[in-house]
Amino acid sequence: MKALQYTAYGRSPVVNDVPEPAPGPGEVLVRVAGAALNPLDVKIGAGHVQEFFPITFPSTVGTDLAGTVERLGSGVTDWSVGDAVITRTDPTAGGAVAEFAVAPATSLVAAPAAIPLTTAAGLPTAAATAWQAVNETAELKSGQRVLVHAGAGGVGSFVIQLARRAGAHVVTTVSGAAAETVRKLGADEVIDYTRVDFRTAISDVDVVVDSVGGETEARSLDVLKPGGLLVSLPVPPDFARATARGLRAEFVFHASDAGRLAKVVAVVNEGFDIVVDRTVQLNGAADAFDYLAQGHAKGKVIVQP
Ligand SMILES: NC(=O)c1ccc[n+]([C@@H]2O[C@H](COP(=O)([O-])OP(=O)(O)OC[C@H]3O[C@@H](n4cnc5c(N)ncnc54)[C@H](OP(=O)(O)O)[C@@H]3O)[C@@H](O)[C@H]2O)c1
Repeated sequence: MKALQYTAYGRSPVVNDVPEPAPGPGEVLVRVAGAALNPLDVKIGAGHVQEFFPITFPSTVGTDLAGTVERLGSGVTDWSVGDAVITRTDPTAGGAVAEFAVAPATSLVAAPAAIPLTTAAGLPTAAATAWQAVNETAELKSGQRVLVHAGAGGVGSFVIQLARRAGAHVVTTVSGAAAETVRKLGADEVIDYTRVDFRTAISDVDVVVDSVGGETEARSLDVLKPGGLLVSLPVPPDFARATARGLRAEFVFHASDAGRLAKVVAVVNEGFDIVVDRTVQLNGAADAFDYLAQGHAKGKVIVQP
């Protein structure tokens, strides 16, 4: 089969011919309908997170996939051949961007019936991290004001929808034409961060969900109301700086959790938009990886093997 593989830290991945993986005890072989790329894949390939997620080369890229069950490993009784599933593999194992992938049976979740299977690949990391940020870390309440940075990004597009679902007033930062996309997702106010310093456009915010970091994180403290909460995704925030300002800060560390992903699937079945920047074939996967690495994707980048 063909798979997108890392060959060394710091090099763009390449498509290789590799043996089809075999499911071990408790595992399932999935025929991949779609595999979504995430910034974490880029960080793994660059070697930036090898302390947490070491890989050995060659190693197949990707954690997020949707597909159909092709074969069951011994002891698997909860799934049947042909079931439509989604999952997030362990980042150290990867393996998603390939024609076939193995995953622990306990990590699988029935794919949402309301959207195409290929598109459902966009959910596992981005939507479940958004769920964690909105519903578990921030516990957003009706009437609260939330600032969502990078509202058109993979995670941000889900944060907007989940925050609206919680009844929050949603303000988001994007650039250019993405304003229309995020309004359709339910954003109440949209700030073009390339034209306006968001600090001049909003104040008294209960929660900031920041998937940008750096200067954006530092400036976000200026718009929070006393006791307000900064929820950071790219790296752990400067906790001391927040505390010194009478604010709270939390880092979301997303760990795969089939129970949480099943809750995401339930809301997707109720009606939820998956913003897809592009869907490419495996022969375009390396270019798509390099595109995602530039940090300007509008929604999910999906590979369809
Ligand atoms: N902690 C965790 O467990 C966890 C889980 C998931 C993701 N993350 C992290 O969260 C971050 C975002 O992930 P993602 O999947 O959403 O990435 P993504 O889809 O690649 O985000 C791209 C988006 O960011 C926007 N953007 C870039 N700079 C911006 C700025 N200064 N202000 C506002 N928007 C800006 C871009 O808009 P423009 O094109 O307009 O610039 C683009 O739409 C990554 O660092 C990722 O590693 C962490």
